[in-house]
Amino acid sequence: MRNYDLAIIDGDGIGPEVNAQAVKALEAAAAVHGFTLTTTPYELGAQTYLDTGTLIDSDTISALQCHDAIMFGAMGDPRVTPGILERGLILRMRRELRQQVNLRPVRLYPGVPTPIKDLDPTRCDFVVVRENTEGMYVGGGSTVHGGTTNAVALQESVNTASAIADVVDYSFRLAGQRRNKLTLCHKKNVLVHAGELWQTIVDEHAARYPSVEVDYVHADAMCQHMPMSPERFDVIVTDNLFGDIISDLGATIQGGLGVAASANLNLDGLAPSMFEPVHGSAPDIAGRGWANPAAAVLSAGMCLAALGEGKAALALENAAASVLGELRELAGPGMGASTDELGDRIVARITSDVTEIDTARISIMTAMAAV
Ligand code: IPM
Ligand code: MN
Repeated sequence: MRNYDLAIIDGDGIGPEVNAQAVKALEAAAAVHGFTLTTTPYELGAQTYLDTGTLIDSDTISALQCHDAIMFGAMGDPRVTPGILERGLILRMRRELRQQVNLRPVRLYPGVPTPIKDLDPTRCDFVVVRENTEGMYVGGGSTVHGGTTNAVALQESVNTASAIADVVDYSFRLAGQRRNKLTLCHKKNVLVHAGELWQTIVDEHAARYPSVEVDYVHADAMCQHMPMSPERFDVIVTDNLFGDIISDLGATIQGGLGVAASANLNLDGLAPSMFEPVHGSAPDIAGRGWANPAAAVLSAGMCLAALGEGKAALALENAAASVLGELRELAGPGMGASTDELGDRIVARITSDVTEIDTARISIMTAMAAV
């Protein structure tokens, strides 16, 4: 029987609660669809850092490297200075495991209200492909005359042709499996050096993928077009910081961070991809059973798709979507059930029979992980 070896990183705040539901759903999907899972928990996050002073060491990175995939909950804790956990853990894992693509699908689920007036669900089904290891996120720079009125902060953005080409090539291949439309999102009217490099690489690839229609939208204009004319987009490829920002807007269009899933995809096949809800650790509601597990469960669906278990991925996604449609609120005590109960409801709806369902959707899901 096929077995997948998963690393489980719960992290902070609501991370353990939602990740537990994701793992529960994965186990259920495995039982129904005829494969098994091995899970190894990793204690990483604020508490470990506060207890030991260590964020993650290279032995742990090496150990993570050997798994088939990583399920990640959330990270962030008010007791730790902002930036320490983010840079030292999440960004380090994304970089060291060469998870060059951060894939964030944006689609509407039946029954989940979108704040965009009169938005028909058929008009909204696109993915944000965010470059995941470079740009402003590299963190280079310096401060001169810090603490004085003459302070100067330099924050560098790193953009390498090879990383951009990997992400752009992935995006073209993904567009080819979807609706053959790729939009580059940047700010090339201002960030002329990085913008020109991105555009040049997109143009080179456009010649190699003639069936894909190519478009360009500035990042600021994107914030208007995404909510107003989402049907215009299929695959949006963008740099790390723009991707971070517009994917939160995407989550809002979907009905909130409670439903937004993501995959940090390793493209060289030599390290695992990592699946995480887009939302943060929400320390204010941690431990109360108020967190919506849907984003984590939908991320688990992306994990199954990436492992090649397309049918199970779709069954899991359908189960989560049907439960989502019944929620009164997307998080908090008014949700109508606890985090754990929602996980149980999702599990109960994972079926083996997905025959009536569009097989094209399965191939689109598995294509997300195509390398
Ligand atoms: C995300 C988060 C992270 C990011 C933070 C927590 C470092 O906002 O996954 O979008 O900026 O990438
Ligand atoms: Mn973000």
